[in-house]
Amino acid sequence: MLTLRRTSLKEFLKSKFTEIDPNIFPKKAKIIGHVALVKFQDERIDLKELGKAVAEFYPTVKTVLRLQGVTGKLRQPVVELIYGDPNAETIHKEYGYKFMIDVSKLMLCLGNSYERLRTAKSVRFGEVIVDMFAGVGQFSIPCAAISKPSKVYAIEINEEAYKYLKINTILNNVEHIVEPMLGDCKELTPTLGRVADRIIMGYFGGTIEALPAALSVVKPGGATIHFHELVSKGTGKDELWNRISELCLRLGYTSTLICSRVVKSYSATREHVVIEFKAKPLNNLLTGTFK
Ligand SMILES: C[S@@+](CC[C@H](N)C(=O)[O-])C[C@H]1O[C@@H](n2cnc3c(N)ncnc32)[C@H](O)[C@@H]1O
Repeated sequence: MLTLRRTSLKEFLKSKFTEIDPNIFPKKAKIIGHVALVKFQDERIDLKELGKAVAEFYPTVKTVLRLQGVTGKLRQPVVELIYGDPNAETIHKEYGYKFMIDVSKLMLCLGNSYERLRTAKSVRFGEVIVDMFAGVGQFSIPCAAISKPSKVYAIEINEEAYKYLKINTILNNVEHIVEPMLGDCKELTPTLGRVADRIIMGYFGGTIEALPAALSVVKPGGATIHFHELVSKGTGKDELWNRISELCLRLGYTSTLICSRVVKSYSATREHVVIEFKAKPLNNLLTGTFK
């Protein structure tokens, strides 16, 4: 029998709640494993009814959470259960890799998935990587699994995320490559010494504050840095690159742009960008000891 795919969650909700202003409905939910997250501000509808309808639209969903916001430097979600099983611990699959996460306590950004794959594919065999804002392993795990670096130091400050980071390295069979480290990357990174071929700074809202720590682990021959930040649409990316290269120079490093790209639109005025560049200590250039 031919079943017709409904066009969108919004269309489905419009057909269910005909008496409600259709403009209030979300276009879609974010689906992570068995959990759906919906952003919904309006109080003109019974939230339990809305949750039930969302679960009806997405047949694999067992839990529906209303996302009210994201707070603090650790970017923790504020959610309310509006349907189903209160257990929001689930497994999200991305390009064949498994990420266990408790969606009621941690955020997982699906809009960055292509950038995670692109980064993982740019890693070369045998590299040493420092993933300074590791989360639950979104960058560390595909890097380790796809490109076989010799080591990935995965630093995460949030104990809850660190717990899943450790689990996820085992789930994806990369525990011999990825070394999870609990703590502030600004403090832990410099303890590693000059080991890094590649440094991933997958964070926004003050990434530049961690750049001195990142530079402190750059190998004498240089390292590639993937620097993420939110910027104003338009000239923001160029302004950010100027700030990065000025700081590198002030700290005694050359910086050579490899590429920059928009990861995703964040709001009407801001976008999430990544700037990929090569940093090299200047004193090695002066003494001629660089590789
Ligand atoms: C937005 S998540 C991004 C995760 C992953 N890098 C990605 O881009 O998909 C940022 C992560 O950085 C962690 N974090 C924030 N400040 C940190 C710090 N100073 N040191 C280590 N981790 C930090 C947060 O707890 C969070 O898990």
